[in-house]
Formats: sequence, C-alpha cells, structure tokens
Amino acid sequence: MNVAVGLIFFCRASGASPPFYPEYTIHDVRRMLVKTPDGAQDVRAIWMEDGVVKAVNQRALPHRFEIVEMDNSEDVAEAISDMTVRGAPSIGAAAAYGIALAATRGEDLEEAAKRMRATRPTAHDLFYAVNLMLSERKRLPGAADEYSDSIVARCRSIGEHGLDLIPDGSRILTHCNAGALATVDFGTALAPMRMAHRAGKKFFVYVDETRPRLQGAKLTAWELLNEGIDHAIIADNASGHYIRSDVDVVIVGADRIAANGDFANKIGTYARAVLAGENKVPFYVAAPISTFDPSLRDGDGIVIEQRSPDEVLIMDGIRVAPQGSDALNPAFDVTPGRYVTGFITEAGLLKPDGLSKLLETQ
Ligand code: MRU
Repeated sequence: MNVAVGLIFFCRASGASPPFYPEYTIHDVRRMLVKTPDGAQDVRAIWMEDGVVKAVNQRALPHRFEIVEMDNSEDVAEAISDMTVRGAPSIGAAAAYGIALAATRGEDLEEAAKRMRATRPTAHDLFYAVNLMLSERKRLPGAADEYSDSIVARCRSIGEHGLDLIPDGSRILTHCNAGALATVDFGTALAPMRMAHRAGKKFFVYVDETRPRLQGAKLTAWELLNEGIDHAIIADNASGHYIRSDVDVVIVGADRIAANGDFANKIGTYARAVLAGENKVPFYVAAPISTFDPSLRDGDGIVIEQRSPDEVLIMDGIRVAPQGSDALNPAFDVTPGRYVTGFITEAGLLKPDGLSKLLETQ
C-alpha cells in the first residue's frame, strides 16, 4: 500500500445516473472539507482513480493527513481490517472497490468477495456492497464508482431529512464517528449537522471520545473542526452527566439494523440510548438503506466483532494496564429499537415500526 502525504487530488463527480438508485443522483455535492497547510480541499474518504483505489488514512488522523493507494484487493481487505478505512458505508465502498480491482486484474471474483467478507463481520454495508458488485460483475469497475456515488447522494439526503431535528441553539451528543470519513462523504449522524451548519444554524456538539479507538476524539472532532462546527470532546464517562443536564438530542450512526429496529453501533451506544430514554432526550439513528438487514428479525442475530485486547490495554503505544491483566474488546453493542425515536434515512424519518417502507425499496 502506497502512502502519499498531503497530496492534492480531485475526485470525480459522476454526471451519469447511477443505475442502482436513479432517484439518488449526484448534483452539486460539496465534499468533506479538509484544511491542510495548502489550503482547504474538498475530498472523499475513498475513491478510484486511474485504476488505483485511494483513501484517507483514518489511522493517521488527526495528526497527519495521508492518502493511501491500493492497486489490489488484498491491500483493500487489509485496509478494512486494520481500520485505515472504517465506518460502515465507507467499508462498503472499499469492498466494492476491492472487487472492482480484482475484476480489473482478471482475478477470481468469488475469491475476492470471500476476502472482503472476512474483514469485519458487523457492518452490513460490507456484505450488501459485495453482493451488489457480484451481481454487477460485468459492469466493473464502473459499478463500484456508481455505488460509491449513490452512498454519497443518500447521505446528503439523510442530511436534508435530519436538518429540522436540529433547532437553532440546540445541544447535540454523538458517539463514535459517523461523518464523511465513515461514509465516503457527508456522514450519516453528521450529515444533518453539516446541513444545519451550512444553513446558518447555531448549535453545539458533545463528542464522545469513544474508547478504545477514540474515533470521536480523533475523527469526529477533526471533521467538526474542519467544518467550523462548535463542539467539545467529552470523556465517555461524562455523557450521562451531559445527557441529564444539557443535551437536547442524541444522533448516532449504525452498522447493522434489524427488521424490528434493533441496531448495532459502536460499543457504548446502548448506554447512551438508555440514558437518553431515561432523560426523555430524543435519540435518532441515521443510516442509509445499505445498513439495514431485513434478513434479521431482531438484534440477537447480529454478529459482534471482537477486536484485539491490545486496543484497550495500550494507548498510543503505551501500555496503561498492568502486565498480566487481560481485556475484552467488543467493537459494537446492540441497542433495542424501543429506544430509537426515529431513523433518519434517505427515505425520510422512520419510526422503528415503520421500517418496512424503506425495506420495500431494497
Ligand atoms: O469500528 P468502526 O470505527 O468502523 O465503527 C464505526 C461506527 O460504529 C459508526 O458509528 C457506524 O459505522 C456508522 S458510520 C456512518
């Protein structure tokens, strides 16, 4: 995998209508804003250019802005596994591009699909994208670009549908990173905030640091800072204090949503949902159709990824726990749908018991 630091690059905006979802075409999509010493750039989290897949290295942020380059599906699979590319819709786009690379190189697509599916078990987008690419194998690599474009357009639509949930002066809490980095562009949970900010609304975001990998402190804060959105990082343990005393609305993303509205998201989401319910604070989940898994009746069937204990025991290269102590590290938890005030989707705001409307379009 090659790394180009501080590269100036341009992503292709597709003028063509994506065949999968003609209703979600790209118009004047403004991309994730990144401020570098060279000035402000609009970028995507992942894209393909001249037969090479390029992605923002999410492991390097916020300290370094790097673009990694991948020209084979093995490297893409590794980038998903080691979280160079992370966040459910971005993982889906990466997997689509991984299959596209395999097709370009004349490799066995079933093998490439197997490799992608073995990377991370919880994000439904990964499996959704792989299946879609296999069904569109004759149109690769173009179909992968179209898939990525459609995710961006859907996230923009999520932003538009969620805009009214952020009144002027409101105080929002979010967990993990469900921003542009996680979704190719715009974000899911962060999309309504981007839209509200660009519409001139004033609001404040509490950003859970999100132990153990600190996606909130490292990535969400970086995105909000680049956009100029007022925010503060809080220790995960402080979220109950703020939900009880100051938060008006909680908005999070999701990795997999079952047919009854139970959903998996970053570990710690369940506790925020219960706290929000206890304090009568609205709790919204923002996600595109690719995150919904109609094959699961409820959340009990969601496979929870278990990651290395080292992510808990070691922080920034320094072991913080005694030698000899072990750690448990589930990457996600399942929140029952009854805690969800609404799902913000590209089809509008849906109640947990109204998901069938969206799933019919799948
Ligand atoms: O382990 P990660 O960083 O990939 O987990 C990401 C999340 O839990 C996000 O909240 C989720 O993927 C939604 S991203 C729009």
